[in-house]
Amino acid sequence: MTLLQERDYGTPARSGPGTVEVEVDGRQVTVPPGTSVMRAAALAGVDVPKLCATDRLEAFGSCRICLVEIDGRKGTPASCTTPVEPGMRISTQSPRLTKLRQGVVELYLSDHPADCQDSLAGGDCELHAMATTVGLEQVRYRTDGHSHLHAPVDDSNPYFTFDASSCIVCSRCVRACDQIQGTFALTISGRGFDSAVSAGAAETFMGSECVSCGACVQACPTTALEERTVVDLGMPTRSVLTTCAYCGVGCSFKAELRGDEVVRMVPYKDGGANEGHSCVKGRFAWGYAAHEDRVLSPMLRESRDDPWREVSWDEAIAYTARRLQEIQRRHGSHAIGGITSSRCTNEEVYVVQKMIRAAFGNNNVDTCARVCHSPTGYGLKQTFGTSAGTQDFRSVDAADVIMVIGANPTDGHPVFASRMKQRLRKGARLIVVDPRRIDLVRTPHIEADHHLQLQPGTNVAVINAIAHVVVTDGLLDRAYVEERCEPDEYAHWEEFIRLEENSPEATEPMTGVPAADLRAAARLYAAGPNSAIYYGLGVTEHSQGSTMVMGMANLAMVTGNVGRNGVGVNPLRGQNNVQGSCDMGSFPHELPGYRHVSDPAVRAIYEDLWGTTIEAEPGLRIPNMFDAAIAGTFRGMFVQGEDLAQSDPNQAHVKAALSALDLLVVQDLFLNETAAFAHVFLPGTSFLEKNGTFTNAERRINRVRPVMASRCGKQEWEVACELATAMGYPMSYDDESQIMDEIAATTPTFAGVSFAHLDEVGSVQWPCNDKAPDGTPIMHVDTFVRGKGKFVETPFVPTDERTSRKYPLILTTGRILSQYNVGAQTRRTDNVLWHEEDVLEIHPHDAEERGITEGATVRVASRVGETLLHARLSERMTPGVVYTTFHHPVSGANIVTTDYSDWATNCPEYKVTAVQVGLFTREKVPEAGAQEPVTPAAASTG
Ligand code: SF4
Ligand code: SF4
Ligand code: SF4
Ligand code: FES
Repeated sequence: MTLLQERDYGTPARSGPGTVEVEVDGRQVTVPPGTSVMRAAALAGVDVPKLCATDRLEAFGSCRICLVEIDGRKGTPASCTTPVEPGMRISTQSPRLTKLRQGVVELYLSDHPADCQDSLAGGDCELHAMATTVGLEQVRYRTDGHSHLHAPVDDSNPYFTFDASSCIVCSRCVRACDQIQGTFALTISGRGFDSAVSAGAAETFMGSECVSCGACVQACPTTALEERTVVDLGMPTRSVLTTCAYCGVGCSFKAELRGDEVVRMVPYKDGGANEGHSCVKGRFAWGYAAHEDRVLSPMLRESRDDPWREVSWDEAIAYTARRLQEIQRRHGSHAIGGITSSRCTNEEVYVVQKMIRAAFGNNNVDTCARVCHSPTGYGLKQTFGTSAGTQDFRSVDAADVIMVIGANPTDGHPVFASRMKQRLRKGARLIVVDPRRIDLVRTPHIEADHHLQLQPGTNVAVINAIAHVVVTDGLLDRAYVEERCEPDEYAHWEEFIRLEENSPEATEPMTGVPAADLRAAARLYAAGPNSAIYYGLGVTEHSQGSTMVMGMANLAMVTGNVGRNGVGVNPLRGQNNVQGSCDMGSFPHELPGYRHVSDPAVRAIYEDLWGTTIEAEPGLRIPNMFDAAIAGTFRGMFVQGEDLAQSDPNQAHVKAALSALDLLVVQDLFLNETAAFAHVFLPGTSFLEKNGTFTNAERRINRVRPVMASRCGKQEWEVACELATAMGYPMSYDDESQIMDEIAATTPTFAGVSFAHLDEVGSVQWPCNDKAPDGTPIMHVDTFVRGKGKFVETPFVPTDERTSRKYPLILTTGRILSQYNVGAQTRRTDNVLWHEEDVLEIHPHDAEERGITEGATVRVASRVGETLLHARLSERMTPGVVYTTFHHPVSGANIVTTDYSDWATNCPEYKVTAVQVGLFTREKVPEAGAQEPVTPAAASTG
């Protein structure tokens, strides 16, 4: 594809009742009221020259280039700030307008670097382009004395520079930061000639509140804000539309290339999930794909003590197949299994689960969703009938009350957070339920109405108490419940929720949430009228994760908040394709489309197509695989793109299990922590090399298109096919679209999906089939997928993980904006500048009691292990609760997390670990069984 340039209509679209008809340069056009003259002209096919206007931002009217003439009006109004009126007759071209525009552009150019257009990046300067547009042939005056031409360059940010000499003070960057990103990091300081862009009160972008989302860089019409890669490599010449491979927001990007080299990733304005916005990871942190640590050849070793030996693909596949079959001969067909990756495409995941079911001959397949959102799948299926969120992201624009539970969207799901913040700034009310004071609680122009700062592990008590208030105060939507929900289950649930033990007063001693605050929050949620719940891993990664998901579903149903725009129960998914990997049949009990393996009719579909027999019994889950490995009954494991040794809880147990395996096969980009236990390493492909689809948190299926050829010579699905074939089950596809065709042919919710359809419409949200050919942005509109919504009783059962005198603090974990999960990718980019190491956030009160000062090295010990971190004193936590991230393997937060897990799905209880924290002194000998501590100094170089 040549370089894709999206049309810029100058000002944002308006919607509303009625229409206005105007004439632009003799062309009639009909637009919604409130539309600017500039946009109306663009819609009529007439581009008015402009500099300070762009259709992602509200008009500002500063450059005076977009002047027009309107019949019956004096002067030459700016078209970007003038709204249309019925019957207007507008002229965009006249000698007078040309002269005025030339004068303005000439003035700008007189204080603008003349060589900017000649630089490699120069093609990006709209000011120079505008000179051509308005017919300016020469600049008559150059300011020799007083000018901005020698203004300093701010190169503090690793990804972009700010060259004030090229700045025309159009304020597009400031408005982008305010209106799109919502960080308010930039201002125009000074007045008149001295006015200049400044990054807050700080001197540099890096020293400011800037979160490097790139919105200002994209908005800048000149080269003042420019990606460093554009400066280094030159302007791109072609683009490929693809999807970010980090989080579950699933932003669409134009990968822009010069020759075969990626120059930059530019968020795509028509991307259904992001509508042109991005965060620092997707926008800038893609360099890991070319990092020197990439392993590009298959490698083998007989024993973990041997050095790796590079081998051909043929040898690696033959060896792996032979060893897996030997294990099955010796220990039975169930002694092997595999794990699919939520980082891989739907097509890659589908083929791996097929390989396990058809070639391995068992259902021992699980996915990394086990350790994040498996309770979402269980809880929403029980109550609503399907394992997915109810809304599209756009729905938040219509929410009146937003309840964020156990999620930190500004760090974990930044682009959606920006959208949510836009809605909050327009007046939606906010309830935050979180043990930590996340940024959303108080951020520029946003303040939560309620922050229910609960004790970790008491989610269910809090959600029950909210529902208790709704029911006992008579705030429920009885008509909705009677029409839409199962009556018997509702009656039982109502009886349960009315119990005094569920009242805010009764639960306050456990939850720590003041009853009055909780009552007020419950009333706010019930009042809506559109109330939406957004939640994250702070809900699911608990021993009662599934119970909590059902508790939220109960609350949404009893208030009538499911099945229309602006409401719903919405999981913010972690990994880019965690929804897809679950959809594709990665769980041991479900075939694609969440259909149980015990259903003979479903098995028959695949048995007929695959020409094999599928077992009717569910296989092993990840924790069962670990236990069975230690017990000696599970001996061989294929791991696709998942770093079990870093990401799974109780690492000592995980490592013991991995060590016990006769054969561990790891397919990944890098030699990760798990690869230390592997016998076979199969190189994987980065998202820039993949061809397929990802499915984001709103069930949106997006195309992932290859920007470059596979650097290791094969696509990951080809490897799975060849391995299956070598094991005696012939498996092959012509290409990735054929795999999607098989998925569509066998999975009712995907029946209407094909590469051709996606290429035509951009993206679709499943279900996409005959009933919903355009996909389904909002689910459960008239009826729930299961028919009637089902209330489920959700008694609060405290976790068995308790604090004690020895372990008096609760550790909870989360992530940070700049890093991603185990950090394998982001640690190999300049994002490390923002987060060199994981730290322990501890309340000053707890720190003082322990003699801990800011930056001190502390030992964090739980019942299963201990690690060292540097302390950060923070009042974001309540006393008694400490917090860390898990992005760096050396500090290894999961050394201390325990084996406790969700009762229904085995999702680990990452969010509640009883720990003790103390100052680390080298004289202290680690307790028996504890991991040898690693110094944080080493961590920072890890
Ligand atoms: S940096 Fe760019 S966007 Fe910001 S004011 Fe200057 S020219 Fe405009
Ligand atoms: S990169 Fe994003 S956060 Fe930083 S100043 Fe620009 S718009 Fe604001
Ligand atoms: S919000 Fe998520 S999907 Fe979007 S650019 Fe950032 S990491 Fe990528
Ligand atoms: S584009 Fe209208 S005033 Fe600048």
